[in-house]
This record gives sequence, C-alpha cells and structure tokens, in this order.
Amino acid sequence: MKLFDVYPLFPIEPVKAQGSWLWDAAEKKYLDLYGGHAVISIGHNHPHWVESLKSQLGKISFYSNSVKNSLQEKLSEKLGQISGYTDYQLFLCNSGAEANENALKLASFVTGRKKIIAFKKAFHGRTSGAVAATDNPKIVAPFNANHEIEFLPLNELTLAEEKINSTVAAVIIEGIQGVGGIQLVDDSFFHFLSKKCQQAGSLLILDEVQSGYGRTGKFFAHQFSGIRPDLITTAKGMGNGFPVGAVLIAPEIKPWSGMLGTTFGGNYLACAASLAVLEVIEKESLLSHAEAIGNELMGSLKKHSIIKAIRGRGLMIGFDLPESHSGLRNNLLFNHGIFTGEAKPNTIRLLPSLALTKEESQLFLTSLSQELSQ
Ligand SMILES: Cc1ncc(COP(=O)(O)O)c(C=O)c1O
Repeated sequence: MKLFDVYPLFPIEPVKAQGSWLWDAAEKKYLDLYGGHAVISIGHNHPHWVESLKSQLGKISFYSNSVKNSLQEKLSEKLGQISGYTDYQLFLCNSGAEANENALKLASFVTGRKKIIAFKKAFHGRTSGAVAATDNPKIVAPFNANHEIEFLPLNELTLAEEKINSTVAAVIIEGIQGVGGIQLVDDSFFHFLSKKCQQAGSLLILDEVQSGYGRTGKFFAHQFSGIRPDLITTAKGMGNGFPVGAVLIAPEIKPWSGMLGTTFGGNYLACAASLAVLEVIEKESLLSHAEAIGNELMGSLKKHSIIKAIRGRGLMIGFDLPESHSGLRNNLLFNHGIFTGEAKPNTIRLLPSLALTKEESQLFLTSLSQELSQ
C-alpha cells in the first residue's frame, strides 16, 4: 500500500529531538522554530513529559470514558487554575478540528440555531463543520459546503453589527489567526463580539488551538482583551506532541449528558502528557519567558528594512517579505538548518517552543541577517 500524499515533504527525516532541536540519521542538527506547526510548547521530549508518559504506560494506557478517571479530574483542575477559567467545564477530545466541531455542535444544540459567523482568512480544521468555517474553498468538499456559514472581514464592526442577530448560533474566531498569516484581533473587536453575541443570544467560540497554551505570553491570546468567551477550544501545544484537544465551556451553558461523546478523548496517556505540559509551563515560568523572548525577537526583526510587516505576540510571530525573498524559508532550512513556518503568499511564521533560549533566537537572527543581506 502507498501512503496518501498529505503534504509536500522536505527531504529531511528527523530521528531524534530535544528542546528546540531535531537531528537526522546523519546527526545533522536542525533548529526548530516551527514546532511541527505550533505543537511543541515545552520543548521536544522534555524530560518531565517523557517521564510522565513512561510512568503512565507502566500503569494503564486506555479504558473507556464510562469509568472514573482521576487523571481527567486532575487535568481539569490544573487547567482551570492556570488558565483562570476555574468555573468552566472541560470536554476532552483528540485534535483541534474535533474541538471546534464539538464547540460548533454544542452552540447549535444550546441555541437551537444553525447559522455560524466566521472570519475571512480563518482556519478551524478539516472536519465537517470546522472546514466549512474555514475560509479556503480548496479544502471544502461539496459535502461540507451545506453548512450555513457567513464569513465577515476581521476587525470590521459595521458588518458584524448587522450580521450577528437572533439567527446566529455562534461566532467562531481565532485568538490570533495562524494559517491566515498571524493576523491579530483588535481588543475592541473582541469586546464588541462578546457584547453583540450576548445581545443576540449567540455563543462566542474562541479558537485557541494555535494561539493558546501560553504561546502569546498569556495562557490564551484573547485574555489580553479581558473578555470571557462562551466556548474556548484548544489542542496543539496542549500535549506537546501527544494528540489531545479540548473544549472549555462557560458555566452559564448547561450541556446535558450524552450531548457530546468520545472514545479516545481524555485517555490516560493524553491526560498524563497534558498535565506534564502544565506542570512544566508553571515550573519554568514559560508564559513570561515566551512574552519576553518573543518581544525581543520582534524588536530585532524590526531592524530589517526589507521586512514589510511584522505581526505577533509572544512566540507567535509572522513577518512579510517582498517577492524577491520568497525563497527565504527554504534558504533558512537548507543553508542554516532552521525550520520555520509559512503563510501564503509570502509570510514567515515563527512558532517555536515556549522555552526557546536567547542563544537559539540569536542563532536564527544571525542566519536571517546573512540571508537578507544577499
Ligand atoms: C486555529 C486552528 N484551529 C484548528 C486547527 C485544526 O487542528 P488539528 O489539525 O489538530 O485538527 C488548526 C490547525 O492548524 C488551527 O491552526
């Protein structure tokens, strides 16, 4: 059997990883400023994360969600405490798309409505509702196109004022748009959406799959604005590479038992990985570290006049290049051994481990200067 062709592949096969570094079989070393797409939060193979998973494997790795699982309770308590959402409920699942799918479904159940408002350039995943709420017709199959979804421009009040009304089940928005090229949401827009959703009886879903888990310096990116969404979705950095996702549900929402379900969600290994991530975030003060090192990095990027625009918060950074430098991502990888991300048409995305060191950041900046001066 041949493998399905998922993405174009770099001719590199990492066989070992530690912190911000990857190694191939020939012991060539790569600096990872991409984190496998914002997944590596506490660093590759963090010793505490490895130990937690190993120790859990030696006990029990799976049973169904029809029995008590104290690890799930421990995780929900710790996540509530670190995120500040102590009074929310936690639904555990396996990926970002699944978290968004469940949030959309829950909003529809609770409001009895179908229509969803999403935003231009949004990416919410590839399952049925999540992909329909994603602003990329190329990945929406005819089967997924029948959802009632309307895309509005980000940060524009006038249309949002008109369109969010009593027919809308939910408004879904990323904490910071990732795939769309690191597009920030104005605090005033978050406040407006929160108020407008309340007035219309619609639910506000904050997709923090990419921007959450400390990446921006706050636990969730929307927390810079001070709003409290009805539903928050998370995944990626939550497990540091172990597949896990979740929906945080506001106390005003009263889901009924059986409304959502899952076989694998909240399994012992996913909980052990997620708990280890939170413990390391706390112990190593990774939120303040990500904010400080991210600000420094953005400050240094601003010194390059060839860079057209720089956007971001903490360690979620995007910068736009002129067409003349469209080869930069490949040059960084093949000339300097540095993995970065991209967004179309010509944005470099930096999504490294939250534990990125000053030296690692400096190494990148030196390589970047060399490439940009050519
Ligand atoms: C903001 C956002 N939401 C949802 C998803 C989907 O997550 P997953 O690939 O885990 O399904 C992604 C993935 O890139 C994302 O960036």
